[in-house]
Amino acid sequence: MAHESGRVKTQFDFHPSPGNHIIWYGRTWIRVERTREKQMVDLHTGTPWESVTFTALGRNRQIFFNILQEARELALKQEEGRTVMYTAMGGEWRPFGFPRRRRPLSSVVLEAGVGEKIVDDVKEFIGNPKWYTDRGQNSQVLAPHFQEVVGIDISECQLAEARAVPGYPNITYRKGTAEDLPFPDGSVDLLTAASAAHWFDQSRFLTEASRVLKPRGCMALLGYSDTNMRFHYQDCGERLNHIFQEKGCPFELAVDVGCGSGQGTVLLAKHFTSVVGTDVSPAQVEVALQNAKEQNITYRQCVAEELPFSDSSVDLMTAMSAFHWFDRPRFLQEAHRVLKPRGCLALLNYTTIDMELSYPDCCSHSLNEICKEFYVALQPYRSPHLGRSSIELYREAYESISYPDKEWQECMLVERSMPLSSYMGLVESFSSYQALLRDDPQKASRLSQGICQRLMSIMKVTSVETEVVVAVKYFYLLACKPQEA
Ligand SMILES: C[S@@+](CC[C@H](N)C(=O)[O-])C[C@H]1O[C@@H](n2cnc3c(N)ncnc32)[C@H](O)[C@@H]1O
Repeated sequence: MAHESGRVKTQFDFHPSPGNHIIWYGRTWIRVERTREKQMVDLHTGTPWESVTFTALGRNRQIFFNILQEARELALKQEEGRTVMYTAMGGEWRPFGFPRRRRPLSSVVLEAGVGEKIVDDVKEFIGNPKWYTDRGQNSQVLAPHFQEVVGIDISECQLAEARAVPGYPNITYRKGTAEDLPFPDGSVDLLTAASAAHWFDQSRFLTEASRVLKPRGCMALLGYSDTNMRFHYQDCGERLNHIFQEKGCPFELAVDVGCGSGQGTVLLAKHFTSVVGTDVSPAQVEVALQNAKEQNITYRQCVAEELPFSDSSVDLMTAMSAFHWFDRPRFLQEAHRVLKPRGCLALLNYTTIDMELSYPDCCSHSLNEICKEFYVALQPYRSPHLGRSSIELYREAYESISYPDKEWQECMLVERSMPLSSYMGLVESFSSYQALLRDDPQKASRLSQGICQRLMSIMKVTSVETEVVVAVKYFYLLACKPQEA
């Protein structure tokens, strides 16, 4: 492959495809089974879409730990000598994209003095850990109010820093995980997680919380929001949990309108006595029924604008990547009719034209210019029903809703690693690509193959199964029907 500079470099990648493989490792034959449940990554739930199962004959279980340890070391080695980029997600900073090669500060084009100011700022920050740990640390805030406070964290490093702060004799810090708390049943008065709960396995954490809390004990999950901050999808789950807690249990009925295959509907099952997924398409309802495992979910075929529920009967109504297809004013009226007083409407979607790719040592700008060309080529095939951008439709709906208790989040970044083929599959599932495919199948496949080839050429890879990181921007609106409406 020729670089822009003219340098030629050839690199081959071999990726074991999904299926069965036999490998020789640690003097043992091991069968590696790579299976994919679906072609596309589940962006709603973040559910791993691929499983890798190792099978070996013999008694030595250590061999599996060795493989994982070696894989971890290899992955860490990739970061050696490189800079890991972080992005703000909710109240946390998370690695973003692949680690980039280090470069001298002098090679970054900045206005005079800006680079030096940043370096001074960072040095000052690193030089004052106590100043930061003394301020607003959650466990320390709790100390005056309880006989005993225990801080739990998975990271030894964080614990060591917390322990180093003097003056809190009633606080102890222990290593542990949120999903497996080191406390007996019914022993905790207050369980808090400050800017942390979105990291947890939420269903296991909530089960663990109800185990350790005393009767009348309280749980407080805190986060903070800023409209300019990028949000992770789990923040939305956290926000919903928070709403559920505010409203008080039990929650009887959730309805997911335009449920498609039910991949979002299943998320609601653990919070409600019953969940109903509805869709206008009999084929989609059929797929959802085939996927259905949860006992409390049922599916019905009906239009979003005429729902088969009585007035004031629904606690939560969701529409995930579907509201933009509805007759929106009629749907909003229907939602108002069926929601209980204090019932909640949640509409979610993501922006398709902002989906971005990254790949190690590869110019993201060049990659994303090609992605943009793809989106622009599909733009004429976009349904007129959707207008120029769906975010505007949702914002309009948000503004038209007269409920005083409502919330609008515009940018919640979700990053997933997936093979390039899955990214292509994702774009090919857009209604605009499907419209082009119906109109001119050859043009559609030429466009998609051409884009894929060009992306591979920039990435300097030969396999469409090469993993890339895809960043998707979600947005959502929440609105709570007033008690008197
Ligand atoms: C992009 S899919 C989203 C499916 C699912 N919510 C998800 O997130 O995977 C949109 C769904 O809305 C459904 N839909 C479109 N218009 C509808 C309407 N007026 N009433 C009910 N469902 C509708 C379509 O059949 C489709 O299954």
